[in-house]
Amino acid sequence: MTTRSSVRHTAFASAWQTLLPIGLGPAGGYRRLAWNDADLACRQWFRAQAQARDLILDEDGNGNQWAWWGEPGAGAVVTGSHLDSVPGGGAFDGPLGVVSGFVAIDVLRERGVTRKRPVAVTNFSDEEGGRFGIACIGSRLMSGDADPATLLARVDEAGVTMGDARRRGGLLPDAAGPDPARLGRIATFVELHIEQGRRLVDLDVAVGVATAVWPHGRWRIDFAGRGDHAGTTRLADRRDPVLPMAETILAARRAAHDHDALATVGRLAVVPGATNAIASHATAWLDARAPGSDTVRRVVEAVGGAATRAGAEHGVGVEVAEESWSGGAHFGAELRERLAATVKDRLGAVAVLPTGAGHDAAILAAHVPSAMLFVRNPTGVSHDPAEHATLEDCLAGVEALAAVLEDLISEDPIPEAPVS
Ligand code: GLV
Ligand code: MN
Ligand code: MN
Repeated sequence: MTTRSSVRHTAFASAWQTLLPIGLGPAGGYRRLAWNDADLACRQWFRAQAQARDLILDEDGNGNQWAWWGEPGAGAVVTGSHLDSVPGGGAFDGPLGVVSGFVAIDVLRERGVTRKRPVAVTNFSDEEGGRFGIACIGSRLMSGDADPATLLARVDEAGVTMGDARRRGGLLPDAAGPDPARLGRIATFVELHIEQGRRLVDLDVAVGVATAVWPHGRWRIDFAGRGDHAGTTRLADRRDPVLPMAETILAARRAAHDHDALATVGRLAVVPGATNAIASHATAWLDARAPGSDTVRRVVEAVGGAATRAGAEHGVGVEVAEESWSGGAHFGAELRERLAATVKDRLGAVAVLPTGAGHDAAILAAHVPSAMLFVRNPTGVSHDPAEHATLEDCLAGVEALAAVLEDLISEDPIPEAPVS
């Protein structure tokens, strides 16, 4: 059943093509960082998509956008993902879920499906944390999982605070924070996402259902040395912060290997950054992930220990600070199995798989029944311009999502308790 029904194909192609050019850089990667011009243009695209479908547009104080099919209300079935990207990211991570959400509504409407619950497509703000360093800002704030004041005070590389950046998007600082009423409306959240690995390729299945999101976090490691001249300072007199930083990066790789985990240093800053100067300061950001929290903690301990030892050897001060922690999620078995059965019924095959990537669905899972669908990625590459899914698989994803939504919205909402 993966033939191209006309609405699925044309609506997907049209939504996808209009989004595709926004924020695309000369090297082929996207730079849709929270609240930059490209992100604001994506948000405008979302409004246009909602308007074209006569959906009710609703934007909350945390920067999340909602497009409602039916009056916003209790017992809602919500789908969607995010439109921001990592620096130099691919086209699919996030947008595939938002586009598929809109197109799934088109499909259900065309089929005349009876909707017993409100449905919303959402664009969660600042999912990647590519600008302010912390991921899933919109969903964390809405869920009450993060302190708004701390987040709004964070600065990007140019020194702009998150609060000021959000003001460009029309958001007032006071509006950020827990939104229990909005959260309470969500009966089920289903996020569709491109797979960020090769499990579906290996299993030869177009669509999968998530079992879990691994725990993960981000740590900032600062190395304070002493700046000096590259051509005159004897090796013995140097306090070069880049040397312990280099040893720390290699230690991260060793620790990940030893603990059967993942650890990555993908961002560095060296001050002042001159070829002919010994740096005075260096910073490395560590991302660590594993199936269990204890393992992640052990990896970070090992890396921190290595950094401290290397710092002492080179006369460099070392500080390790946790910037964010995501406990991950085990998606509820009942909902997951219901999704898997629906997808298998519609597409003929389904896979179930965990992921090491972070998602808003993992934040929401601690508060409301949540689930995820993954669409096959032929190379497995993600957070890179090479990230890809075939049109055939994207349409299979829409078909799977439409089937899942159809199943969920055909259920009567739980009647509200009478007011006594
Ligand atoms: C987001 O995609 C993450 O896994 O960091
Ligand atoms: Mn991502
Ligand atoms: Mn994503």
